[in-house]
Amino acid sequence: MKAFITGASLGIGKAIAEALAAKGYDLILNARNSERLKHFSKNLTGKYPSIHCDCLAADLTDPKERSSLTQSIRSRHQKLDVVVNNAGIFETGDCLQDPEVFETAIDLHLKAPFYLIVDLSSLLRASRNPHVINIASVQSKTPNAQSPAYSVSKYALRGLSDNMREVFKKDGIKVTNVMPGYTWSNSWEGAEFPRERLMEPEDIAKVVVCALTLGKSAVMEEVVLRPQLGEFPD
Ligand SMILES: NC(=O)c1ccc[n+]([C@@H]2O[C@H](COP(=O)([O-])OP(=O)(O)OC[C@H]3O[C@@H](n4cnc5c(N)ncnc54)[C@H](OP(=O)(O)O)[C@@H]3O)[C@@H](O)[C@H]2O)c1
Repeated sequence: MKAFITGASLGIGKAIAEALAAKGYDLILNARNSERLKHFSKNLTGKYPSIHCDCLAADLTDPKERSSLTQSIRSRHQKLDVVVNNAGIFETGDCLQDPEVFETAIDLHLKAPFYLIVDLSSLLRASRNPHVINIASVQSKTPNAQSPAYSVSKYALRGLSDNMREVFKKDGIKVTNVMPGYTWSNSWEGAEFPRERLMEPEDIAKVVVCALTLGKSAVMEEVVLRPQLGEFPD
């Protein structure tokens, strides 16, 4: 089995890569920072020597980098079982004042997953159990005045998941939309709150593994995860 994971060098993406490596998946890992990606990949293959790990650095907001990334994948791999669209950035800010915040959120959270799915669909069709996992957010369902651009882009990603699930039904490609709430990752570094109130990235990875292990006739369409004590401040 082979999985392609974006934003795989930190946080939730890293935990998903680790969980799939433990299940014996060969991995194709993407993020912008090539050194950090290679360092993680080396650790992973040291821990799980039977897996193969391909690192492909690219900025997914850049259409040219995105396109050469998918070309490389298609030239090096014949089939893909899983695509995890996880790369993301949480940015607050007034998108009415700064439309660039809006552009980046849409490029990374909507356009990148869409074009990756389109460009890699032929490899997914070659799998017996193809699956797309999109890591959205609880903000896919709840508007937020502090981070409206992020929220809009995650609403859109949820819409992409729902529509791609319909489009791909006839091809047997499952699509799962995962909507986590506050989860510990580098993006929370320096924030002032009790760490124990957050979920762990491994919690999200467990749900991804669960979605991938359902029988052929079942699909986990979407899942919402929140810290047990809820969001904060409360
Ligand atoms: N943590 C949370 O509380 C939380 C809650 C709900 C949803 N999420 C979602 O979960 C996903 C992962 O979040 P996280 O908290 O784990 O983030 P993180 O720790 O900041 O990691 C983000 C990952 O994405 C990569 N990345 C960022 N911009 C990229 C770009 N333009 N092109 C390619 N890769 C890029 C980063 O590597 P480089 O910097 O090297 O590119 C890194 O590997 C995101 O989609 C986020 O919206 C997170």
